[in-house]
Amino acid sequence: MTQTIVVTGANRGIGYAVAQALVAGEAAASRRIVLLCRDAAAGERARTSLAQQGHAEVLAVSGALDSRRGIEQAAQALDAACPTLDVLIHNAGSWPQRRVLNEDGLEQAFVVNHLAPFLLNRRLERKLSACRARVVQVSAGLYVKGKPDLQRSPRGDDFSALSTYATTKLYNLALLPLFAERFGPLGVTINALHPGVIRTGLGARDDALGLLLALVKRLWKAPRHAAPPVLRLALDPALADVTGRYYDGTRELPLAAIARDRAQAEALWQQAEQLTGLSTR
Ligand SMILES: NC(=O)c1ccc[n+]([C@@H]2O[C@H](COP(=O)([O-])OP(=O)(O)OC[C@H]3O[C@@H](n4cnc5c(N)ncnc54)[C@H](OP(=O)(O)O)[C@@H]3O)[C@@H](O)[C@H]2O)c1
Repeated sequence: MTQTIVVTGANRGIGYAVAQALVAGEAAASRRIVLLCRDAAAGERARTSLAQQGHAEVLAVSGALDSRRGIEQAAQALDAACPTLDVLIHNAGSWPQRRVLNEDGLEQAFVVNHLAPFLLNRRLERKLSACRARVVQVSAGLYVKGKPDLQRSPRGDDFSALSTYATTKLYNLALLPLFAERFGPLGVTINALHPGVIRTGLGARDDALGLLLALVKRLWKAPRHAAPPVLRLALDPALADVTGRYYDGTRELPLAAIARDRAQAEALWQQAEQLTGLSTR
Protein backbone atom coordinates (compact mmCIF):
# COMPACT_ATOMS: atom_id res chain seq x y z
CA MET A 1 0.00 0.00 0.00
CA THR A 2 1.29 3.46 -0.86
CA GLN A 3 2.33 5.61 2.07
CA THR A 4 1.87 9.36 1.77
CA ILE A 5 4.51 11.43 3.56
CA VAL A 6 4.41 15.24 3.74
CA VAL A 7 7.59 17.20 4.42
CA THR A 8 7.27 20.96 4.99
CA GLY A 9 10.18 23.22 3.97
CA ALA A 10 11.44 20.46 1.69
CA ASN A 11 13.18 22.51 -0.99
CA ARG A 12 16.49 22.91 0.86
CA GLY A 13 18.42 22.17 4.03
CA ILE A 14 17.23 19.41 6.34
CA GLY A 15 13.82 19.10 4.65
CA TYR A 16 15.42 18.38 1.29
CA ALA A 17 17.83 15.86 2.87
CA VAL A 18 14.87 14.12 4.53
CA ALA A 19 13.05 13.97 1.19
CA GLN A 20 16.21 12.60 -0.46
CA ALA A 21 16.40 9.83 2.13
CA LEU A 22 12.70 9.08 1.63
CA VAL A 23 13.02 8.61 -2.13
CA ALA A 24 16.07 6.35 -1.80
CA GLY A 25 16.02 2.55 -1.65
CA GLU A 26 13.51 -0.11 -2.63
CA ALA A 27 10.90 0.83 -0.05
CA ALA A 28 10.57 4.19 -1.80
CA ALA A 29 8.57 2.58 -4.62
CA SER A 30 5.58 2.43 -2.27
CA ARG A 31 5.94 6.04 -1.09
CA ARG A 32 4.33 9.23 -2.23
CA ILE A 33 6.40 12.18 -1.00
CA VAL A 34 4.64 15.53 -0.87
CA LEU A 35 6.93 18.56 -0.59
CA LEU A 36 5.35 21.64 0.92
CA CYS A 37 7.43 24.59 -0.29
CA ARG A 38 6.92 28.33 0.08
CA ASP A 39 8.17 29.11 -3.42
CA ALA A 40 6.50 27.21 -6.25
CA ALA A 41 9.57 27.33 -8.53
CA ALA A 42 11.89 26.09 -5.76
CA GLY A 43 9.39 23.34 -4.99
CA GLU A 44 9.28 22.27 -8.61
CA ARG A 45 13.09 22.22 -8.83
CA ALA A 46 13.25 20.02 -5.73
CA ARG A 47 10.50 17.77 -7.07
CA THR A 48 12.23 17.27 -10.42
CA SER A 49 15.58 16.52 -8.82
CA LEU A 50 14.11 14.12 -6.22
CA ALA A 51 12.00 12.29 -8.81
CA GLN A 52 15.24 11.51 -10.68
CA GLN A 53 16.95 10.18 -7.57
CA GLY A 54 14.63 7.30 -6.68
CA HIS A 55 11.43 5.41 -7.30
CA ALA A 56 9.01 7.32 -5.10
CA GLU A 57 6.24 9.41 -6.54
CA VAL A 58 7.10 13.04 -5.69
CA LEU A 59 4.69 15.96 -5.66
CA ALA A 60 5.27 19.61 -4.85
CA VAL A 61 2.61 21.74 -3.21
CA SER A 62 3.19 25.44 -2.64
CA GLY A 63 2.32 27.16 0.58
CA ALA A 64 3.74 29.97 2.69
CA LEU A 65 3.47 29.32 6.41
CA ASP A 66 3.94 32.88 7.64
CA SER A 67 0.34 34.07 7.84
CA ARG A 68 -2.97 32.64 8.90
CA ARG A 69 -4.24 32.90 5.33
CA GLY A 70 -1.11 31.15 3.98
CA ILE A 71 -1.33 28.32 6.50
CA GLU A 72 -5.03 27.80 5.77
CA GLN A 73 -4.28 27.68 2.03
CA ALA A 74 -1.41 25.25 2.62
CA ALA A 75 -3.68 23.00 4.68
CA GLN A 76 -6.29 23.03 1.90
CA ALA A 77 -3.66 22.33 -0.76
CA LEU A 78 -2.24 19.42 1.27
CA ASP A 79 -5.72 18.08 1.91
CA ALA A 80 -6.41 18.11 -1.83
CA ALA A 81 -3.03 16.59 -2.75
CA CYS A 82 -3.21 13.83 -0.15
CA PRO A 83 -6.20 11.47 -0.36
CA THR A 84 -4.49 9.71 2.56
CA LEU A 85 -1.82 11.01 4.92
CA ASP A 86 0.46 8.62 6.81
CA VAL A 87 3.26 10.90 8.01
CA LEU A 88 3.37 14.67 8.48
CA ILE A 89 6.86 16.07 9.05
CA HIS A 90 6.88 19.66 10.33
CA ASN A 91 10.32 20.75 9.21
CA ALA A 92 9.90 24.31 7.87
CA GLY A 93 11.48 26.74 10.28
CA SER A 94 12.50 30.36 10.46
CA TRP A 95 15.28 32.15 12.33
CA PRO A 96 14.79 35.80 11.36
CA GLN A 97 17.51 38.30 12.20
CA ARG A 98 15.10 41.19 12.62
CA ARG A 99 11.53 41.66 13.67
CA VAL A 100 9.23 41.14 10.70
CA LEU A 101 5.47 41.38 11.13
CA ASN A 102 3.07 39.60 8.80
CA GLU A 103 -0.28 40.74 7.42
CA ASP A 104 -1.92 39.70 10.72
CA GLY A 105 0.56 41.85 12.69
CA LEU A 106 2.29 38.74 14.04
CA GLU A 107 6.03 38.10 14.25
CA GLN A 108 7.45 35.80 11.58
CA ALA A 109 9.17 33.11 13.69
CA PHE A 110 6.20 32.94 16.06
CA VAL A 111 3.97 32.12 13.10
CA VAL A 112 6.25 29.77 11.12
CA ASN A 113 7.70 27.82 14.06
CA HIS A 114 4.69 27.72 16.35
CA LEU A 115 1.33 28.67 14.81
CA ALA A 116 1.89 26.89 11.48
CA PRO A 117 2.44 23.36 12.89
CA PHE A 118 -0.40 24.00 15.33
CA LEU A 119 -2.91 24.98 12.65
CA LEU A 120 -1.76 22.31 10.15
CA ASN A 121 -2.19 19.63 12.83
CA ARG A 122 -5.69 20.83 13.56
CA ARG A 123 -6.79 21.27 9.96
CA LEU A 124 -5.42 17.88 8.88
CA GLU A 125 -6.53 16.06 12.02
CA ARG A 126 -9.34 14.06 10.43
CA LYS A 127 -7.08 12.83 7.66
CA LEU A 128 -4.28 12.02 10.09
CA SER A 129 -6.70 10.04 12.20
CA ALA A 130 -8.11 8.11 9.24
CA CYS A 131 -4.59 6.79 8.54
CA ARG A 132 -3.48 6.46 12.19
CA ALA A 133 -0.67 8.73 11.09
CA ARG A 134 2.59 9.85 12.65
CA VAL A 135 3.44 13.51 13.14
CA VAL A 136 7.10 14.47 13.48
CA GLN A 137 8.19 17.91 14.68
CA VAL A 138 11.69 19.03 13.78
CA SER A 139 12.43 20.97 16.92
CA ALA A 140 15.67 22.53 18.21
CA GLY A 141 17.75 21.90 21.32
CA LEU A 142 17.93 25.68 21.69
CA TYR A 143 14.36 25.62 23.02
CA VAL A 144 15.88 25.56 26.52
CA LYS A 145 17.05 29.16 25.92
CA GLY A 146 13.48 30.30 25.29
CA LYS A 147 12.08 33.20 27.29
CA PRO A 148 8.34 32.69 27.21
CA ASP A 149 6.22 35.82 27.29
CA LEU A 150 2.78 35.15 25.90
CA GLN A 151 1.87 38.82 25.86
CA ARG A 152 4.87 40.08 23.90
CA SER A 153 5.92 37.13 21.70
CA PRO A 154 3.02 37.14 19.19
CA ARG A 155 3.95 40.59 17.94
CA GLY A 156 7.64 40.23 18.62
CA ASP A 157 7.61 43.12 21.13
CA ASP A 158 10.50 41.35 22.88
CA PHE A 159 12.31 40.46 19.63
CA SER A 160 15.91 39.32 19.79
CA ALA A 161 17.23 37.02 17.04
CA LEU A 162 18.45 34.22 19.30
CA SER A 163 15.84 34.29 21.99
CA THR A 164 12.88 34.72 19.62
CA TYR A 165 13.98 31.65 17.66
CA ALA A 166 14.50 29.67 20.89
CA THR A 167 11.21 30.87 22.38
CA THR A 168 9.14 30.01 19.32
CA LYS A 169 10.73 26.52 19.20
CA LEU A 170 9.90 26.22 22.91
CA TYR A 171 6.25 27.13 22.27
CA ASN A 172 6.06 24.46 19.58
CA LEU A 173 7.55 21.86 21.91
CA ALA A 174 5.44 22.86 24.91
CA LEU A 175 2.35 21.78 22.96
CA LEU A 176 3.77 18.30 22.28
CA PRO A 177 2.22 16.69 25.40
CA LEU A 178 -1.14 18.33 24.69
CA PHE A 179 -1.16 17.11 21.10
CA ALA A 180 -0.11 13.63 22.25
CA GLU A 181 -3.11 13.54 24.59
CA ARG A 182 -5.50 14.85 21.96
CA PHE A 183 -4.17 12.58 19.21
CA GLY A 184 -3.95 9.41 21.33
CA PRO A 185 -7.63 8.42 21.06
CA LEU A 186 -7.47 9.23 17.32
CA GLY A 187 -4.65 6.72 16.78
CA VAL A 188 -2.20 9.47 15.77
CA THR A 189 1.29 9.72 17.31
CA ILE A 190 3.42 12.84 17.61
CA ASN A 191 7.10 13.07 18.51
CA ALA A 192 9.77 15.75 18.26
CA LEU A 193 13.51 15.83 17.77
CA HIS A 194 16.54 18.06 17.71
CA PRO A 195 18.16 17.17 14.37
CA GLY A 196 21.73 18.09 15.36
CA VAL A 197 23.83 21.12 14.48
CA ILE A 198 23.60 21.10 10.72
CA ARG A 199 25.12 23.23 7.96
CA THR A 200 22.12 24.90 6.31
CA GLY A 201 20.90 28.39 5.49
CA LEU A 202 19.08 28.71 8.82
CA GLY A 203 19.76 32.04 10.52
CA ALA A 204 21.83 33.34 7.58
CA ARG A 205 22.55 37.07 7.73
CA ASP A 206 24.25 39.51 5.38
CA ASP A 207 26.59 41.32 7.79
CA ALA A 208 30.04 40.65 9.28
CA LEU A 209 28.56 38.23 11.81
CA GLY A 210 26.95 36.40 8.90
CA LEU A 211 30.35 35.95 7.25
CA LEU A 212 31.77 34.60 10.48
CA LEU A 213 28.80 32.28 10.91
CA ALA A 214 29.25 30.96 7.36
CA LEU A 215 32.87 30.12 8.22
CA VAL A 216 31.92 28.38 11.46
CA LYS A 217 29.19 26.44 9.67
CA ARG A 218 31.80 24.78 7.47
CA LEU A 219 32.63 22.66 10.51
CA TRP A 220 29.04 21.58 11.02
CA LYS A 221 27.53 18.36 9.68
CA ALA A 222 25.96 18.20 6.23
CA PRO A 223 22.13 18.04 6.04
CA ARG A 224 22.15 14.33 5.13
CA HIS A 225 23.22 13.57 8.72
CA ALA A 226 19.93 14.95 10.01
CA ALA A 227 17.77 12.65 7.87
CA PRO A 228 18.13 9.25 9.64
CA PRO A 229 16.71 10.33 13.02
CA VAL A 230 13.80 12.03 11.27
CA LEU A 231 13.07 8.92 9.18
CA ARG A 232 13.29 6.81 12.33
CA LEU A 233 10.47 8.76 13.98
CA ALA A 234 8.51 8.75 10.73
CA LEU A 235 8.82 5.10 9.80
CA ASP A 236 10.45 2.79 12.35
CA PRO A 237 7.88 0.05 13.19
CA ALA A 238 9.36 -0.18 16.71
CA LEU A 239 8.09 3.37 17.37
CA ALA A 240 4.57 2.80 16.04
CA ASP A 241 2.94 3.37 19.43
CA VAL A 242 5.45 5.81 20.88
CA THR A 243 4.06 9.32 21.32
CA GLY A 244 4.76 12.59 23.12
CA ARG A 245 8.52 11.98 23.24
CA TYR A 246 11.44 14.28 22.52
CA TYR A 247 14.76 13.08 21.09
CA ASP A 248 18.19 14.53 20.54
CA GLY A 249 18.88 12.67 17.29
CA THR A 250 17.90 9.14 18.29
CA ARG A 251 18.47 9.60 22.03
CA GLU A 252 15.32 10.16 24.02
CA LEU A 253 15.51 13.05 26.47
CA PRO A 254 12.97 14.32 28.99
CA LEU A 255 11.59 17.75 28.13
CA ALA A 256 13.27 20.46 30.19
CA ALA A 257 11.13 21.97 32.94
CA ILE A 258 10.59 25.13 30.89
CA ALA A 259 8.63 23.05 28.32
CA ARG A 260 6.68 21.10 30.95
CA ASP A 261 4.77 23.98 32.51
CA ARG A 262 1.21 22.69 32.06
CA ALA A 263 -0.55 25.97 32.78
CA GLN A 264 1.68 27.75 30.29
CA ALA A 265 1.07 25.07 27.64
CA GLU A 266 -2.69 25.37 28.08
CA ALA A 267 -2.49 29.16 27.82
CA LEU A 268 -0.40 28.77 24.66
CA TRP A 269 -2.94 26.37 23.19
CA GLN A 270 -5.79 28.77 23.91
CA GLN A 271 -3.84 31.68 22.47
CA ALA A 272 -2.97 29.70 19.33
CA GLU A 273 -6.66 28.83 18.89
CA GLN A 274 -7.57 32.49 19.16
CA LEU A 275 -4.84 33.73 16.84
CA THR A 276 -5.62 31.12 14.18
CA GLY A 277 -9.38 31.64 14.44
CA LEU A 278 -10.05 28.09 15.61
CA SER A 279 -11.76 29.24 18.78
CA THR A 280 -14.34 31.29 16.89
CA ARG A 281 -15.70 28.33 14.90
N1 LIG B 1 20.31 23.57 10.92
C1 LIG B 1 20.39 23.29 12.21
O1 LIG B 1 21.50 23.20 12.80
C2 LIG B 1 19.13 23.07 13.01
C3 LIG B 1 19.27 22.81 14.38
C4 LIG B 1 18.11 22.61 15.13
C5 LIG B 1 16.87 22.65 14.51
N2 LIG B 1 16.76 22.93 13.18
C6 LIG B 1 15.42 22.97 12.59
O2 LIG B 1 15.41 22.23 11.38
C7 LIG B 1 14.37 22.71 10.53
C8 LIG B 1 14.92 22.88 9.13
O3 LIG B 1 15.88 23.91 9.19
P1 LIG B 1 17.15 24.01 8.20
O4 LIG B 1 18.34 24.08 9.05
O5 LIG B 1 17.05 23.02 7.12
O6 LIG B 1 16.90 25.50 7.65
P2 LIG B 1 16.88 26.13 6.18
O7 LIG B 1 17.96 25.56 5.35
O8 LIG B 1 16.84 27.61 6.42
O9 LIG B 1 15.49 25.62 5.59
C9 LIG B 1 14.29 26.08 6.12
C10 LIG B 1 13.15 25.58 5.28
O10 LIG B 1 11.93 26.13 5.85
C11 LIG B 1 11.25 26.84 4.83
N3 LIG B 1 10.52 28.00 5.34
C12 LIG B 1 11.01 29.04 6.04
N4 LIG B 1 10.04 29.96 6.23
C13 LIG B 1 8.93 29.47 5.61
C14 LIG B 1 7.63 29.97 5.41
N5 LIG B 1 7.25 31.17 5.86
N6 LIG B 1 6.73 29.21 4.73
C15 LIG B 1 7.09 28.00 4.24
N7 LIG B 1 8.33 27.50 4.36
C16 LIG B 1 9.24 28.23 5.04
C17 LIG B 1 12.35 27.33 3.88
O11 LIG B 1 11.77 27.69 2.65
P3 LIG B 1 12.48 28.83 1.70
O12 LIG B 1 13.57 28.11 0.96
O13 LIG B 1 11.38 29.31 0.83
O14 LIG B 1 13.02 29.88 2.61
C18 LIG B 1 13.22 26.08 3.84
O15 LIG B 1 12.67 25.15 2.97
C19 LIG B 1 13.85 23.99 11.17
O16 LIG B 1 12.64 23.74 11.82
C20 LIG B 1 14.94 24.36 12.17
O17 LIG B 1 14.43 25.10 13.25
C21 LIG B 1 17.87 23.14 12.42
